[in-house]
Amino acid sequence: MSNFLKNRRSVREYKNKEITGDVKAQILGLFDQLEKEDENKHFNFVLFEDGDKVYRLLDGLAGYSGVMIKSPHYIGIRLKKVSNESIIYASYYAEKLMTELSKLNLGSCWINVKNVDKEVKSEAFGENNKNIGYIIAIGYPKASNPFVEEPFSPRLSIQDIVYDEELGRPISIEELERRGLDDLFYYIRFAPSNYNKQPWRFILKNNKVILLLEVSEEGKTDLMDAGIVMYYFVELAKTIGINGEWIIADNLYMAHDGVNCRQIGEFQI
Ligand SMILES: Cc1cc2nc3c(=O)[nH]c(=O)nc-3n(C[C@H](O)[C@H](O)[C@H](O)COP(=O)(O)O)c2cc1C
Repeated sequence: MSNFLKNRRSVREYKNKEITGDVKAQILGLFDQLEKEDENKHFNFVLFEDGDKVYRLLDGLAGYSGVMIKSPHYIGIRLKKVSNESIIYASYYAEKLMTELSKLNLGSCWINVKNVDKEVKSEAFGENNKNIGYIIAIGYPKASNPFVEEPFSPRLSIQDIVYDEELGRPISIEELERRGLDDLFYYIRFAPSNYNKQPWRFILKNNKVILLLEVSEEGKTDLMDAGIVMYYFVELAKTIGINGEWIIADNLYMAHDGVNCRQIGEFQI
């Protein structure tokens, strides 16, 4: 998992090759498996097979500044009901899905479609799916050009995201080593996030890790970023022998140095 995280990248260039037969069946099997893991509570995955149609309708409208990613197919994440918990679990399992897809040699990339008009989404995804906020591009990645440097999204340092006992109080690497959490926090930073904002903040307090999200200047947090990082945290914790689950404890706000943070959950370590 740690190696996987360090090397995982959003794939934005795909071969013009459809996913068919056994691989397609495996993807649909994964949808089923992960929805069941969530006890069919919060979301459904939907495969949009006609990637050309989705791309044509969303080009110029979806993604960062309307830069739509072209892929042979897309996966939609449809929430059963809009609630904080649904958004967190949907993104948790979507990231788990993306990890499983990479084992099938498939690349993927999140695409933000929140600001796309509902009428356009209804045409692209179907009437039942017009409220979808995020889709995932999937396909076989184009071979990388050895003469061109791969795009790389920088990451914050551990000290920028992990605090001791209270927000803003720095933690030493020695303390993290002593608690056996240095590797976990090194690798967790490679989780993807919307606009690569890396809004996650962690406080180590007694035998708990508290997860917070930094509130943006516009006063917003994106709970998708929370679900994704919670998934990687659970998987990385397993690699050091800690089998635990997040308890969602949302809506408490804290501030330090003029920066607001929203508490999301706690994990016993
Ligand atoms: C919720 C979410 C939405 C995203 N939306 C887009 C998007 O619309 N367009 C895009 O090119 N990348 C999108 N990304 C990809 C991030 O920019 C990318 O994960 C981040 O920059 C880190 O880069 P990496 O995935 O290559 O490590 C999104 C990521 C997340 C988690």
